[in-house]
Amino acid sequence: MRICVVGTGYVGSVVAACLANKGHKVVGIDVDEEKVRALNKGRAVVFEPGLEELLRRGLEGGRLLFSSDFRKASGASLVFVCVNTPPLGREEFDLSPLEEAVRKLSLLPSPPRAVVIKSTVPVGTTRRLEGMVRDRGRGTRLKFASNPEFLREGKAVEDFLRPLRIVVGTEHREVASLLKGLYADFGAPFILTTPEAAEIIKLAANAFLSTRISFINEIAKVCEHYGVDVEEVAGAIGLDPRIGQHYLKAGIGFGGACLPKDLSMLARAGEVCGEEMPLLRAVESVNQLQPFRAVQKLKKALKGIEGKTIAILGLAFKPGTDDTRESPALKVCSLLLREGARLKVHDPALKGRVREVLPEAEDCPSPEEAWKEADAIALLTDWPEYRKVNFRKASKQMRGKVVFDGRLLFDPDEVRKAGLEYVGLGRGEGG
Ligand code: UGA
Repeated sequence: MRICVVGTGYVGSVVAACLANKGHKVVGIDVDEEKVRALNKGRAVVFEPGLEELLRRGLEGGRLLFSSDFRKASGASLVFVCVNTPPLGREEFDLSPLEEAVRKLSLLPSPPRAVVIKSTVPVGTTRRLEGMVRDRGRGTRLKFASNPEFLREGKAVEDFLRPLRIVVGTEHREVASLLKGLYADFGAPFILTTPEAAEIIKLAANAFLSTRISFINEIAKVCEHYGVDVEEVAGAIGLDPRIGQHYLKAGIGFGGACLPKDLSMLARAGEVCGEEMPLLRAVESVNQLQPFRAVQKLKKALKGIEGKTIAILGLAFKPGTDDTRESPALKVCSLLLREGARLKVHDPALKGRVREVLPEAEDCPSPEEAWKEADAIALLTDWPEYRKVNFRKASKQMRGKVVFDGRLLFDPDEVRKAGLEYVGLGRGEGG
């Protein structure tokens, strides 16, 4: 099939590379010339395991090409639109790049057989875009579908190639069968529905994951006061298969470009229709308070933040990525800086680039460099390598004794045995 992917960021570059490796002829289009040049050289513009290998194979096999020329989409069977829909102020989303892409597609001399919206959008957007080009009288032949993505950063290639479900929302039988054919050998349930249902499924999936995280973070608050470890509670309740173990890790909260945005998009979808959405709003506010709780704990343990040196371990919103968008770690850092702390930051994926997101911080090449002469260690992203922290060594090199574990990664006993003070979230007395 001839496929075009518009927008070659996180989602777009993965979709393009994976479909090319499935044997399709794929053109990835982006307005950013620099990105196009890098991708054509096989360089992934995002930190994603396995992506460069797929790009290289696709480019070498002549099945993959990137371009800034929109006309390359002409005559494609399917166009996947994967442009960003970033937040625009409070509760609004910038849909102008998406609308511009659709407008350009409607002007192509030979229009594609289907326009597939993969960008995460407010409910009703796919139908509205289809109406927009029809009303302008130019794109009468453009048929739309919503086909949301469920890719986790750091596991996006794996998630695309081995999906849990394929969701397609369209009113056009021809588009449905094109997409059914495309995904025929992916071995996942194919859910064919309306565009609005597909959009809600996407948002509801992320909102549910967010709800679980805020739920366990709220339980963690109770645990602290009763000498209970929230990990024990999460593990025990998760043994019930109706509950399960996933997304029950307490900590400083959820971040990234998706969970916080999708949660507010879904709440908004109800509110614009006059509904109150108290559950989703509560999930949001529990999450927004977590970085403040973290700072409170550090403040108490350090008897004030001003003038203290804090070693920060991890800045990305989760391990396995260099993405700091909506990172709770970054929020904790900003609050600490505001309180007058000096920060020495290490993140395995952001070495040498910490100052791009946190100009006031010191960028440290190793965890050891970060904790030397520090009053406290604050672990904010659960990179697996931090499990190997040698606390005896740290204890000798630090000035102070506090270890704040914002992701419940460390063994409290090990920290204490090294003569340090363990401070967690939801871990009884010390927590
Ligand atoms: C999320 C979803 O997991 C994907 O299924 C979805 O496709 C994607 O958004 C998207 O909409 O594009 P991602 O943003 O990569 O994927 O992040 P997650 O791995 O879900 O983690 C989100 C945040 O929750 C991270 O900050 C993580 O540290 C936090 N988290 C996760 C917890 O605090 N506790 C947990 O138990 C799990």
